[in-house]
Amino acid sequence: MTAARPTDPRDRLIVALDAPDIGEAERLVAAIGDAARFYKIGMELAYGGGLALTAKLAQAGKRVFVDLKLHDIPNTVERATAQIARLGATFLTVHAYPQTMRAAVAGAKGSGLELLAVSVLTSSDDADLAEAGYAYGVAALVERRARQAVAAGIDGLVCSPAEAAKIRAALGDSLLLVTPGVRPAGTATGDQKRVATPAAAIADGADYLVVGRPITQDPDPRAAAERIVGEIAASVSSPRAAGRGPG
Ligand code: C5P
Repeated sequence: MTAARPTDPRDRLIVALDAPDIGEAERLVAAIGDAARFYKIGMELAYGGGLALTAKLAQAGKRVFVDLKLHDIPNTVERATAQIARLGATFLTVHAYPQTMRAAVAGAKGSGLELLAVSVLTSSDDADLAEAGYAYGVAALVERRARQAVAAGIDGLVCSPAEAAKIRAALGDSLLLVTPGVRPAGTATGDQKRVATPAAAIADGADYLVVGRPITQDPDPRAAAERIVGEIAASVSSPRAAGRGPG
């Protein structure tokens, strides 16, 4: 891994801009102000014309995580990765299939783009994997894919907070760990099946927390982001006090 691990608590929050169009996304960015420095553009916004916001945010000094979870034949993945690199993105996700990861690494070569592999979606549990035809449960598949990501030269992994602890124990600091499925105490879990509080995720070894609805659906998104940054800062200074579960 060549990517540096973040140290400033504010740099460790990534706000998921899950909005239908650029207008709504820009309203959220303006409302959040300097409370966040890192935004994630996912499929909904990208397919609604929002991928162009990547370059705009990057030029405004924000970092951008393009979460398109690429998976296709190697030639297509390599060329698509190179296009995302040209937009000025900091992170791009690809599914953690060895062939796909190797192609993305080739496409990002020589750029500042860092690649994250998606291990197992945090909305999936063992029953969902069995239904999809996998012989592995979540824990075993996540660990297998984490090792394959290191071998492919991937910078980091997207995983649930609970998996972060196991991956840190198994692989040390060889990967950046980025965890969605984060819910401050008292907020709705929605469709996420494996969630943790920001403090628990940090204590489990997460480098970056991806938080969407608890910020974007709060009547005061800026205050919600500030609360989470505060929780990250508090857990960094006293990791043993970190709470577990969303309360
Ligand atoms: O609103 P919420 O905080 O649940 O948003 C989580 C974000 O992280 C969403 O944009 C979702 O697509 C993304 N994500 C996830 N689980 C993964 C990878 C990405 O929830 N394994």
